[in-house]
Amino acid sequence: MVEFPISQAASLIRGISAQFAREYPGVMESLFSERLTAELVATCTYGGYSDLPGAFRAACAEIERKSGLAGMALYHKLVLATLIADFGWRAQKGLPLSVASQYEVEFRRILEQFDTNPHEFYTQENDLFNKDLAICRGKLIPCGAELVDEFSGVPRSTAFRDGINQLLGVLWFFTARSGGFRPFYEMHMDPRSRRQFTPEGWDRCYLRVADLLEMNPQIKGLFGSSWWYDPRVEEITPNLGFLRHRPLQNGACIFRMGSDGAAIGNATGHSRRRREQYEKGEYMPTNYLMVWAREDLLRWAKQARAEGLQA
Ligand SMILES: CC(C)(COP(=O)(O)OP(=O)(O)OC[C@H]1O[C@@H](n2cnc3c(N)ncnc32)[C@H](O)[C@@H]1OP(=O)(O)O)[C@@H](O)C(=O)NCCC(=O)NCCS
Repeated sequence: MVEFPISQAASLIRGISAQFAREYPGVMESLFSERLTAELVATCTYGGYSDLPGAFRAACAEIERKSGLAGMALYHKLVLATLIADFGWRAQKGLPLSVASQYEVEFRRILEQFDTNPHEFYTQENDLFNKDLAICRGKLIPCGAELVDEFSGVPRSTAFRDGINQLLGVLWFFTARSGGFRPFYEMHMDPRSRRQFTPEGWDRCYLRVADLLEMNPQIKGLFGSSWWYDPRVEEITPNLGFLRHRPLQNGACIFRMGSDGAAIGNATGHSRRRREQYEKGEYMPTNYLMVWAREDLLRWAKQARAEGLQA
């Protein structure tokens, strides 16, 4: 049974509010409101997970001006705890059990880390904070190995990034297989879920995505863009081959997107072998986009479940 940590969040809200009133009298009263947190939820739509409503950004800037980094951290903790406390009724719109249980894990982690994260963590320049905020808003859905953005689409420019074959491949896939470029679920990696970055962890993640797809028939499928979908990666580090094989062997397509600084940093930062090959000019980290149409993913999930895999 899933139990969101509502009472823990409620007690933290009381403690943080009292601390804020004590340390920065008069500031919170004018700048924290249910309207602002409601807007954080209501504005979850297409766009980046770190895009935040203007009114919220303005309130945060004002808090920082009046109470500094420590006050800003308290304010952001209050927002996270409030969103978690309110999540129960939002979850009633329907979440598969396999995903609700991941929310529970993430909410407990987020609240527990209030005591251990430094003030600097709770700023909108920090990607990990933005991910936590997006989970609490409902914009990013925790699925284990990956976080999934529920409002995304595949850029049409994918068609023009690698010559005529890719153009034809993109046209075929998005007309014949998926029936459009959006809405799609989009995957994002969170390094804190590193332990689930295994073939089994990814399969279980796909099962959770399949559960979400079942409940949301308008979603056309799943996609993600990364250096690890590059066919070259498997030649250098065969242990990452599973990332391409599972979707490709079950109807997905992979399209070349191109290289950039993030691809180079991410691909070479953790592996001596990839770094050496890059430095010798034998490997250029390059992003590829993997896209898996809903019917194909659901077919794989049905088969995997029949073989005993559980989310
Ligand atoms: C993606 C990521 C989690 C994969 O990690 P991984 O499963 O350990 O796979 P890697 O190939 O990166 O492994 C790194 C090193 O650990 C070694 N390794 C991996 N699994 C191992 C295992 N089970 N036993 C022993 N060594 C292992 C690898 O051999 C490699 O070292 P080498 O290439 O010098 O030989 C990791 O590369 C990472 O954190 N990257 C940065 C984040 C990122 O890419 N973000 C972008 C998202 S689009």
